[in-house]
Amino acid sequence: MKLLRNARLYGREGVHDVEIDGARFGRVLPAGQGKGETFLDAADALVSPPFVEPHVHLDTTLTAGEPRWNASGSLWEGIAVWSERKATLTRDDVVSRASEVLRWYAANGVLHVRSHVDVTDPGLVALDAMIEVREQVRDVIDLQLVAFPQEGIVSFENGPELLEEAARRGVDVIGAIPHFEDTREDGVRSLEIAFDVAQRHGLLLDTHCDEIDDEQSRFVEVLATLARRGGLGSRATASHTTAMGSYNGAYSYKLQRVLARSGINLVCNPLANLCLQGRFDDYPKRRGLTQVKEMLGAGVNVAFGHDDVMDPWFPLGTAFPLQVALTGIAAAQLTGAAEIAEAYAMVTERAARVLSLGDRYGIEPGRPASFVVLPASSPFDAVRRQTRPSHVVAHGRLIAETPPAPTRLSWPGRAPEDIDFVRERDRA
Ligand code: FE2
Repeated sequence: MKLLRNARLYGREGVHDVEIDGARFGRVLPAGQGKGETFLDAADALVSPPFVEPHVHLDTTLTAGEPRWNASGSLWEGIAVWSERKATLTRDDVVSRASEVLRWYAANGVLHVRSHVDVTDPGLVALDAMIEVREQVRDVIDLQLVAFPQEGIVSFENGPELLEEAARRGVDVIGAIPHFEDTREDGVRSLEIAFDVAQRHGLLLDTHCDEIDDEQSRFVEVLATLARRGGLGSRATASHTTAMGSYNGAYSYKLQRVLARSGINLVCNPLANLCLQGRFDDYPKRRGLTQVKEMLGAGVNVAFGHDDVMDPWFPLGTAFPLQVALTGIAAAQLTGAAEIAEAYAMVTERAARVLSLGDRYGIEPGRPASFVVLPASSPFDAVRRQTRPSHVVAHGRLIAETPPAPTRLSWPGRAPEDIDFVRERDRA
C-alpha cells in the first residue's frame, strides 16, 4: 500500500492521506494517519479527480490553415474548409494529429476525453483511425468516440447507413446535427434515426444541437423529449445549443422545465462558439452561447468543452480545461464565488456526468487511482491563476510532472522575490 500524503481533496474539508493500492484508491484518512510508503506528498496542495473533456473533435485537430484558413470565421465556412481537407485524410494523418493532442491533454491532467469523429465519409477513414487511437491510449486516457455526421444524416447520401456502420464498428456514442439538415422535418427525422441507432446498439447519445444563431432552431426540445420518453435521460447530451442565446424569455422558461425533466446534459463550448457565433450580426453582436447560468439554476447538468484545438473552427488552444473554464466564466457571467467553483466542476465532475463515468471517476475507495495535484488552495484559486497540474497520476502511475516556474522580480526597495500571483494575505 502506498500513500498520497497531505492532500487538500476536492470537495472535502481539511487535509487527508489517501491509500493507493496498485491502480486503485484505498481508504481516505485524516492527514498523518496513513501508514505506508510515500507515493507523493501533495504538501497541502489541491488534489482533484482528473479533468474531463466532454467535447472535442480530434479528427480535425491541428489542421488550422489546411488547405486554407477560415477567412469569414463562420461555422459554415469551417465546414466547407474541413470538407476540402477531409478529401486528403489518411489513417496516419489522423492517428498522428489526434495522438499529439491527446498527449497535450494528458500533460494537462485530462484523463477522460469524448471526441466526435466525422462519419460523413464513405470510407470512414477517420473513424477507423480513431478506434485504433482509442486502443493505443487506453492505459492513460479513457477515450469515448462519437459517430458525428458533420454533413447531416437525412441530407447526406447514405447518411443513415454510415451512422449504422459506425455503430457496428464500435463507437461509444451516436451523434446528429439536426440544425444542419435541409429542413426542420429532416432535422427531427435525423434525431429519431440517431436515437434509434443508439437504443438498438446500447450506446450513449450526444448531438450537435442548435449550433446556429436562429431563434427558431429548437431541436433541443425534441432531443430532450425523445430522451425522456425513451428512458435515456442523462445518457443523452445536447452539445453547443447556441440558439438558446437568442431564445425569448417565455420560451426559455418553458424549455428549462422540459430539459430539467428529461435529465439530459448540455455542453457549452465557449472558446469556439464565442468566435463562431454572431458572425451574421451587426452591432450589438450576440454572444451566441447556451444559457449556462439559467440552466444550472434550473437543475440541468451543464459542462464546458474545448470543441476545437487548432482547426478550421477555432485556430488556438492548448487542450487546457482551465482556459476553457475561465473563458466560460467571462462569457456566461459566472462571477459569483459559488459560480466560479461551479465552473471548475464543469470541467471535472459535471463533465464526468456527461460521459456517464459513474464510479469510474472520483477519489473514493475502490475507484481508479487517477488524479491531479494542483499547486493551488482551492478550485477558485486554480481557475484564477490558471494553474497547471504539478503531477498527473493515471491508474496509480505518475505520468506527468510540471515543476513550479515563478517569476523572479527585482523591485525598487524590495529584495528580489518570486512572484506566483498568490495574494500576500492569502499566503499568511
Ligand atoms: Fe462540436
